[in-house]
Amino acid sequence: MLLAHLTDLHVRPHGLAAYRTAETNMLTERAIDAVLALDPRPDAVLITGDLTDNGLPAEYENLKRMLSRLPMPVWLIPGNHDRRENLKAMFADFPGLSDHPHFAQWATDLGPVRLVGLDTVVPGSGAGRLCAERLAWLEERLAEAPGKPTIVAMHHPAFVCGIHHMDRISLLEGTAEFEAVIRRHPQVVRVLAGHHHRPIQALFAGTLAMVAPSVAHQVVLDLNDKPAGQFNFEPAAFHLHLWTETSGLVSHTAYVEKAAGPFPFLRDPDYPGA
Ligand SMILES: [Fe+2]
Ligand SMILES: [Fe+2]
Repeated sequence: MLLAHLTDLHVRPHGLAAYRTAETNMLTERAIDAVLALDPRPDAVLITGDLTDNGLPAEYENLKRMLSRLPMPVWLIPGNHDRRENLKAMFADFPGLSDHPHFAQWATDLGPVRLVGLDTVVPGSGAGRLCAERLAWLEERLAEAPGKPTIVAMHHPAFVCGIHHMDRISLLEGTAEFEAVIRRHPQVVRVLAGHHHRPIQALFAGTLAMVAPSVAHQVVLDLNDKPAGQFNFEPAAFHLHLWTETSGLVSHTAYVEKAAGPFPFLRDPDYPGA
């Protein structure tokens, strides 16, 4: 089982950039090219929110056209830049998005691994929330398959990362309760998120929490407390989660842009190994 985790596309209507300078449509097309170029190809693609920049119907139309290039199932959850009702209405034919009556959340089996997508969106807010209803739903989903290695995916990270302007809009409500749910279910092998537009890892509730970088613009690495953040164009990337019989889930970083190489390992005569 190979799962590609992309996040924070911030797709705009055709021909428009995000924040005037981030050509998120081009950057998303480029990321899809990178996924299609993988050998082997992922069995599924997970995209953890900020699918669009403003949740507009024209943005979702554009996104849908782009995602139609991917031959494998694409699992979507919303972020704070999305509008849940537009996403659910326009992607009702995508897996999972019609499963819940009002949230955009779902659970599925990907071979030996279970994947649970959680909707942390609060309409009108940049920060995330898990209310009692969503927490109960998660508890039920995890209780269904206690012996199956499980990935929980959401938009808002649930841990403090030290980039203050992002911590002020992370999962701010229901965080302790969410941590308690995850702790009760040790089959959770990853808690995946986006939102921070940087690769970040932390131990959370006894498991590994991973924030994937954006496939578009990145948040500047600044651990000082400033009122506003900035973005840049550090290398765009996504994560690849590979299930192995020996080591369980193994997580790789794949870069969108091609780098120089590949070159063969021609052994230097001074090499001390055999
Ligand atoms: Fe984002
Ligand atoms: Fe976000």
